[in-house]
Amino acid sequence: MGEAISHLQTGQVSALQSYVNEMAAILGVPSVELATAEVDALSEHLQNVYHPGQSGPSDVNFLYVMARLMPARSYIEIGTASGFSSMAIAMALQANPLNTEVHLHCIDRKEKCLFDETKDVGFVAIAGQAKVPKVKFHFHRGTDSFQAKDLVSPKANLAFIDGNHQHPWPLQDILNLMPVLEPGAWVALHDIDLPRIALELQKMYPGETIEPRFGPQYLFQQWPGRKIDGGNIGLVEIPKERSTLATSIERLLSLPFETPGDSESRKRKLRAALAAAMV
Ligand SMILES: C[S@@+](CC[C@H](N)C(=O)[O-])C[C@H]1O[C@@H](n2cnc3c(N)ncnc32)[C@H](O)[C@@H]1O
Repeated sequence: MGEAISHLQTGQVSALQSYVNEMAAILGVPSVELATAEVDALSEHLQNVYHPGQSGPSDVNFLYVMARLMPARSYIEIGTASGFSSMAIAMALQANPLNTEVHLHCIDRKEKCLFDETKDVGFVAIAGQAKVPKVKFHFHRGTDSFQAKDLVSPKANLAFIDGNHQHPWPLQDILNLMPVLEPGAWVALHDIDLPRIALELQKMYPGETIEPRFGPQYLFQQWPGRKIDGGNIGLVEIPKERSTLATSIERLLSLPFETPGDSESRKRKLRAALAAAMV
């Protein structure tokens, strides 16, 4: 299932440099030397906030390394919540000396944070934005990926999808993003191992409802191009020849939908997004 990368566990920020080297080798890009100050800053960020609805530390490490290795002008995140992952991504973008100004588009269907309705979506990133002056945050609250084509500029070469995990939402998201993704862009998919992890999390947080959704896993498994498996987070490359996606997408359309409502009208929306993605 794609090239595997060792999965950094909580508290292993000290192993970040070897993780950087490993991912660089898989991506075929030059590795970078992390500064002690940035590793310390990431470590502090990881200790600051944690909620089961956010990406865990291992997955944030993965996102950090991905953004640290690849220079960017524009980055899209679907599903922002507190802005915990957005801030980690922003810190990586800031630390890359090849970046000058990066637009970080944070799209979330809610106005207020999913797990703290007293705070705006993205509040963690808002609090930290002075530390990342190269990064221009754009919080697109109350929106979803259907609006991305009108919101995102310039086109992005990196994205992170962590919105609705019900199949076929992650597929819809990646298709909706394609018109604003550069050829060869890389897209991180969160919760590709959610069916297994949801069972574990449910035991740890009996007060929460954690559904074993299959959307990200199906998408990652069926993705036909280059991909990196980081445990519960994966990275897929948007192929330069997008028509190569068609067969896999038809296969994804045949898997059981987890969303409520009429699956035929959803299929029509997916096929429309696929057609728009081909141009
Ligand atoms: C798991 S949380 C995101 C966590 C965040 N990425 C992090 O790691 O800190 C999922 C977020 O996606 C948002 N969401 C759910 N469905 C969405 C959709 N279809 N489009 C955009 N956002 C969506 C929710 O409001 C919620 O804030």
